[in-house]
Amino acid sequence: MKILVTGGAGYIGSHTCVELLNSGYETVIVDNLYNSSSKAVERIETITQKKPVFYKVDLLDKTSLDSVFAKEKPDAVIHFAGLKAVGESVEKPIQYYYNNLTGTLNLVDCMKNHKVKNIIFSSSATVYGDPAFVPITEDCPKGSPTNPYGWTKWMIEQILTDLHTSDPGWNVILLRYFNPIGAHESGLIGEDPKGIPNNLVPYVAQVAIGKRDCLNVFGDDYNTHDGTGVRDYIHVMDLATGHVKAIEKFSEKSEVRIYNLGTGKGCSVLDILHAYEKACGHNIPYEIKPRRAGDVDASYSECNKAKKELGWEAKYNVDDMCTDSWRWQSMNPDGYGQS
Ligand code: NAD
Ligand code: UFG
Repeated sequence: MKILVTGGAGYIGSHTCVELLNSGYETVIVDNLYNSSSKAVERIETITQKKPVFYKVDLLDKTSLDSVFAKEKPDAVIHFAGLKAVGESVEKPIQYYYNNLTGTLNLVDCMKNHKVKNIIFSSSATVYGDPAFVPITEDCPKGSPTNPYGWTKWMIEQILTDLHTSDPGWNVILLRYFNPIGAHESGLIGEDPKGIPNNLVPYVAQVAIGKRDCLNVFGDDYNTHDGTGVRDYIHVMDLATGHVKAIEKFSEKSEVRIYNLGTGKGCSVLDILHAYEKACGHNIPYEIKPRRAGDVDASYSECNKAKKELGWEAKYNVDDMCTDSWRWQSMNPDGYGQS
């Protein structure tokens, strides 16, 4: 089976390509490298000893994308490509809506033209907004995302659902990720944020390696066990195996299927900080700062549906995630830049 992976050079995409190749899937990566490096593609090959086919193509360039479909004739698509920085999306909504929505519309139109109707989409717990309840099940109503990035996830879920309504032959799997962190155990691929990291673990990693002075903890007055925000951190390799398991659903009746991918366990900012201290072997300085706009007290999943229907559950804990993140960070202090 041949899988076309949009955004396959990126953080989650590269780890998923490793799992796909190791599981025997032919893998075709389409990525414009806007937020990634061709080195990630080389390292996928180093890890797996198998070469993924790679096209440096922008989803906004529909002619080139169509040529990839004509040449490769994939059986299914995993769609990771998109812009993902929450804060930047508030400043640049047009860029975010244009890239994420138009890119997806071009993709599904090419799929339709080439009669490829199997798609897995990278969605996010952000579609639950301030969740109606925790732990969050897939039945929790979609809420109002607090930023344009989140709305693109919300809207793309709707677009893919409407596609299935128009033609029930479409097999759509919406995977709602919680908070992916960590890296492949080899230390060869990992998350390589450009500029100042927005997310907690990449920031902690840069403080741990000495690139930044101190972690700013955004709020200690949340309704949680220690007052700092609680999230459901999931190892990126667990997320990768979740995608491989989801592919097996394409052999069943075509439907729109929705799965939360998380661990079901909530961890606070300080829990993560202390786990990272253990992983790197020294203290990590931090200061309590005001809350960050748009953050919620707690967001964590209930993942029984993925366990029951996909036969998948996360196997790594937060200590594993921090150990693997630190291995990547210390082996590649400048990410893919100069390593
Ligand atoms: P990433 O930025 O590392 O990967 C996305 C990839 O898509 C990059 O390689 C980028 O170059 C590529 N891309 C972007 N626009 C493109 C376009 N128009 N054409 C071709 N390629 C394009 O991000 P990631 O963390 O690996 O996230 C992957 C997906 O998962 C994204 O859709 C993201 O929104 C979603 N997601 C991520 C998280 C997270 O915390 N990392 C959480 C939930 C959902
Ligand atoms: N935090 C800090 N200091 C930092 C960064 C984050 O204290 O420097 C705190 C936040 O306030 C929050 C927690 O750490 O309590 C996690 O924040 P992240 O930015 O790492 O993650 P979010 O839960 O805000 O959002 C992430 C992605 C979203 C995605 C969501 C669910 O950024 O795109 O997970 O998947 F939608």
